[in-house]
Amino acid sequence: MRLSRRIAAAALAITTLLPMSACGGNEDSADGDAVEVFTWWADGGEKAGLDALVGVFAQQCPDQTFQNGAVAGGAGSNAKQVLASRLQTGAPPDTFQAHAGAELVDYVKAGQVENLSDAYDQWALRQAFPLGLIENLTYEGRIYSVPANIHRANVVWTNKKVLADAGVTTAPTSMDEFFAALDKVKRSGIEAPLAVGKDWTQLMLLEAVLISDLGPHKFAGLWNGATDWKGAEVTKATNDYKRLLTYANDDRDALDWTDAERLLMNGRAAFQLMGDWEAADLDAKGFKDYGYFTFPGNGETFQWLADSFTLPRNAPNPDGARCWLKTVGSAAGQQAFNTQKGSIPARIDADPANYPPYQQSAMADWKTATQVPSCAHGAACSQGLQGAANSAMAKFSTDLDIASLQNALAQATSQFTTS
Ligand code: GAL
Repeated sequence: MRLSRRIAAAALAITTLLPMSACGGNEDSADGDAVEVFTWWADGGEKAGLDALVGVFAQQCPDQTFQNGAVAGGAGSNAKQVLASRLQTGAPPDTFQAHAGAELVDYVKAGQVENLSDAYDQWALRQAFPLGLIENLTYEGRIYSVPANIHRANVVWTNKKVLADAGVTTAPTSMDEFFAALDKVKRSGIEAPLAVGKDWTQLMLLEAVLISDLGPHKFAGLWNGATDWKGAEVTKATNDYKRLLTYANDDRDALDWTDAERLLMNGRAAFQLMGDWEAADLDAKGFKDYGYFTFPGNGETFQWLADSFTLPRNAPNPDGARCWLKTVGSAAGQQAFNTQKGSIPARIDADPANYPPYQQSAMADWKTATQVPSCAHGAACSQGLQGAANSAMAKFSTDLDIASLQNALAQATSQFTTS
């Protein structure tokens, strides 16, 4: 039964996109104790994080064998389609990556994931994570996943040499200062100083501008209907965003976040707005000359998202999956994973001294900053809303029609938001 499900899943994937295991690139014991872990962490810092977690899993669950079900593509742009087909056809992996918040609730409402409240009691996890995060994993009183981390979305990464050559010596702290810095870099001969990728990376950039122009409270209200997408402040933010695109690479719609990151590493761009998985990825790729700052104008706001792991209904190896989940939630698992992934541990008992400098600063900020959820990474938005928002961003990237973008986002929010 177990093998036939896996074969069916692999056959399905061949017709769509190939997971790592179907490429033969990873270990699959094909014995009864394989645990297929489905993620989109296939390369660079993401893979380094996964590998570190697998190392702890091997120690904590010696009777189980990790099977890599990763499907490459930033933010799950390919993985989520493959996963949706597998869940619909009754061929789930043993565990899969899902973002805390609205995205996780999609799987809960569809009856695709199991209640893990008993595991939280058994493994003493209720006290291990911040209450607010647990609320984002809970639906109707039941907890449905185990968080691996907390990522910060609203960070700008820089190429220090490009900035030094352009004479940009301080980090901009407002949109005006950001435009001035972009102008300076442009005058130094860099044609497209802001590296941007496709749809979801554009949504992240718009979200950061909205936080600056609306403030954290009104920003958060955009995703639940409390703030009007057609309001004047959103029009101003969208104009600022449109102006930012004049500094961006023209081929953005064809690039994943790592392709845009390459522009930064090659010195063809000075800035990239991206989640802090970029710290891990730059480290993994050996690029040392980078800096970072909170997106200009975001002040003390920490835009968060969290990766969590689930137990799918009818998982072929539920015992193995539970052992994986226990590792994910453990202090050792969180440290191994997050020191490599750029994120901070979800556990509150972690010691910052065990983390690299970037994560130490993020851990400090997480405690004091105003927290707002990310739409592009599922904390604030269901998958339907993420998809509609991504399409609206891709359309705007070409037509630059502000009213039409505001209308599309207003319509998508009312269509996909129930509360
Ligand atoms: C996010 C995910 C991160 C990172 C990023 C880029 O959605 O939460 O862990 O993998 O995508 O792929």
